[in-house]
Amino acid sequence: MIEILKKEQLSSDVYLMKLHAPHIAQSRRAGQFVILMMDDNYGERIPLTIADGNEVEGSITIIFQAVGGTTLQLSRMKEGEGISHVLGPLGTPTHIRKHSSPVVCVGGGIGTAPLYPIVQAFKAAGNRVITIMGARNKDLLILENEMAELSDELIICTDDGSRGRKALVTEPLKELCESDVPPAEVVAIGPPVMMKFCSETTRPFAVPTVVSLNTIMVDGTGMCGGCRVTVGDSTKFVCVDGPEFDGHKVDFNSMMSRMSSYKEQEKEHQCRMDALAKDHIKGGTQP
Ligand SMILES: Cc1cc2nc3c(=O)[nH]c(=O)nc-3n(C[C@H](O)[C@H](O)[C@H](O)COP(=O)(O)OP(=O)(O)OC[C@H]3O[C@@H](n4cnc5c(N)ncnc54)[C@H](O)[C@@H]3O)c2cc1C
Ligand code: FES
Repeated sequence: MIEILKKEQLSSDVYLMKLHAPHIAQSRRAGQFVILMMDDNYGERIPLTIADGNEVEGSITIIFQAVGGTTLQLSRMKEGEGISHVLGPLGTPTHIRKHSSPVVCVGGGIGTAPLYPIVQAFKAAGNRVITIMGARNKDLLILENEMAELSDELIICTDDGSRGRKALVTEPLKELCESDVPPAEVVAIGPPVMMKFCSETTRPFAVPTVVSLNTIMVDGTGMCGGCRVTVGDSTKFVCVDGPEFDGHKVDFNSMMSRMSSYKEQEKEHQCRMDALAKDHIKGGTQP
C-alpha cells in the first residue's frame, strides 16, 4: 500500500495528494507520470502526472481533478489511508534546455498541475520563464502563488474575466510571438483543443511548441495500443514515446475523435456518479 501523507482540496473538484513513494521520488524527472490503481481487483488504471517530489521526505505529489469513477474514489481517500499500486515514473522526461530568449509555459485548467514541474525545471536551467495560466473562472485557477513565485512573468486569463485578463490563453501567446523577443520555445498543457490552438498560434511564427498529450491509457507499457496518436507520418504511443510531442506535428483532430469514442458510455457513467456523489454528501462524509 502506498500511504497518503497529505491531502488538500485546491478547488471545487481538484485535489492535491502527497504519496509516500521514495523510489519514484528519487528517480522522477519533469514531464513524467505514474499509473495508479485503487484496488487489487483488476480495477481501472489511471495516469496522473508527478506534479512535484521530495527526495528527503520520500514523497511525490499528484494533483488531480475528480472527473470520473477512479478520480472520485481517490478524492474520497483520507490521509493515512493507502492506494494499492502506484507505478512509475513513466514516460519520457521533458527535454530541458537553456535558451537565450524566454520559454513560454501555457497551462489550461488542470493542465497547470503537469506544467508546474516543467516550469521548475526550465527555471532551474537558468531560463527566463513566462507562464500563461487559463481557466474558465477564478475559482478554477490552481497553483497561482506557486507559479507566481517561479515565473519571471505570470499572465492569468479567465474566460469570464473574474481574474486577470478576460481572454483565451492564445491571445497573450500570440502577442508574445509578435514581440521583439519572441519565445525560444512554448510548452502548452491543457485540454486537447487548447493545445491544438496554441500550436496553431505559434505555427506561423515557427516557434517550437511542445504539448503533453492526455490520451486514454491502459497498460502504460507500449503494448496495448490504447494511447496511439499520429505525429507527423508516424504512429506513436503516448505512454512510452511521450507524453510530450511536437505540437505542430500532432494530428489533434484524430486524437480528439478517438478520445470521444466513449462519450455515450461516459454520460451514463456520469449519471451514476452524480447519484453516488449525492449519497456521499447526504452521508456527511464529504472530504
Ligand atoms: C500522461 C497523462 C497524465 C495525466 N495527468 C493528469 C493530472 O496530473 N491530473 C489530472 O487530473 N488528470 C490527469 N490526466 C487525466 C486522467 O488520467 C483522467 O482524468 C483519469 O484517467 C480519469 O479517470 P476516471 O476514472 O476518474 O474518469 P472516467 O469517468 O473514466 O473518465 C473521465 C475522462 O477521463 C479520461 N480518462 C479516463 N480513463 C483514462 C485513462 N485510463 N487514461 C487517460 N484518460 C482517461 C477520459 O477522457 C474521460 O473523458 C492525465 C492523463 C494522461 C494520459
Ligand atoms: S497505454 Fe497501452 S500502449 Fe500506451
